[in-house]
Amino acid sequence: MSLDFSGKLAVVTGGANGIGLATSTVLAAGGAQVWLFDLERERPAETAARLGGRGCVVDVTDRGSIEAALDACGTPDIVVANAGTAVEADLGDTGRDLWDRTLAINLTGVFQTVQAAAARMKPRRRGAIVITASTNSYDGEARLTAYNASKAGLLGILHTVANELGPYGIRVNAVCPGLIRTRLTAAHFSSPGLLKEYFRHIPLGRGGEPEEVAQASAFLASDLASYVTGATLFVDGGQMAAKFGTWSEDSADFTEGRWRLK
Ligand SMILES: NC(=O)c1ccc[n+]([C@@H]2O[C@H](COP(=O)([O-])OP(=O)(O)OC[C@H]3O[C@@H](n4cnc5c(N)ncnc54)[C@H](O)[C@@H]3O)[C@@H](O)[C@H]2O)c1
Repeated sequence: MSLDFSGKLAVVTGGANGIGLATSTVLAAGGAQVWLFDLERERPAETAARLGGRGCVVDVTDRGSIEAALDACGTPDIVVANAGTAVEADLGDTGRDLWDRTLAINLTGVFQTVQAAAARMKPRRRGAIVITASTNSYDGEARLTAYNASKAGLLGILHTVANELGPYGIRVNAVCPGLIRTRLTAAHFSSPGLLKEYFRHIPLGRGGEPEEVAQASAFLASDLASYVTGATLFVDGGQMAAKFGTWSEDSADFTEGRWRLK
């Protein structure tokens, strides 16, 4: 299914890979003119060209590069603030460098993207912003103190900015993905034993694909979500609804990377 984004200009940060690329693809398929903002090494212009879009080299920790890219593309109708990173470390091994870098990309990067975009969108009195948060915005997961703090902080941005931008007709929402198959989670997806235990707690019994997050982000960005702002949408196979685990060997097998009833 594709939503109608014809005539819309969409910016996707971290758009050259994973969830951002899938979201860019869905928006482009719906007719949006898509601009990918990503790091130089990810070649955003080349990737964007494959979608019929444009790309800009942007480091979301660098306010100047965001402003320059927004100047280049013009005022967006849709902004997906998605760029992010995750590096695992025990609390004791989470050095100040790792903490600062994670917060700079995942939290300050979103703040700067949203602030710069909103300044341009407000005079037009319309627009939609989607933030890629996480299930980890809500709960803990060991060895991810910096990541989880950054993703929890995004809810503060979400709720505050939805209040401020609502009067300008700009909606601000977030998707909260669970475990999604991207390079960020390659280590998880290459370990069947780990997946078996992880997915035991997921009602749908499997991990997610980037396209499944992209469809949710696209919905929030679309006019179909015209009365939705300040909301979070879990895209997690039911993980956040599951307290005690869903799957057991009594009634199911774990095969080909997912749980299935016998
Ligand atoms: N994969 C998952 O399971 C999962 C779950 C929850 C949330 N998320 C979030 O989804 C978002 C996308 O992650 P992904 O899984 O697609 O990973 P990914 O590594 O495939 O994509 C992340 C993109 O962000 C870009 N990026 C990183 N630092 C940047 C910077 N300073 N400036 C501009 N771009 C930068 C990368 O170059 C890359 O293209 C992230 O915010 C991540 O935290 C992912």
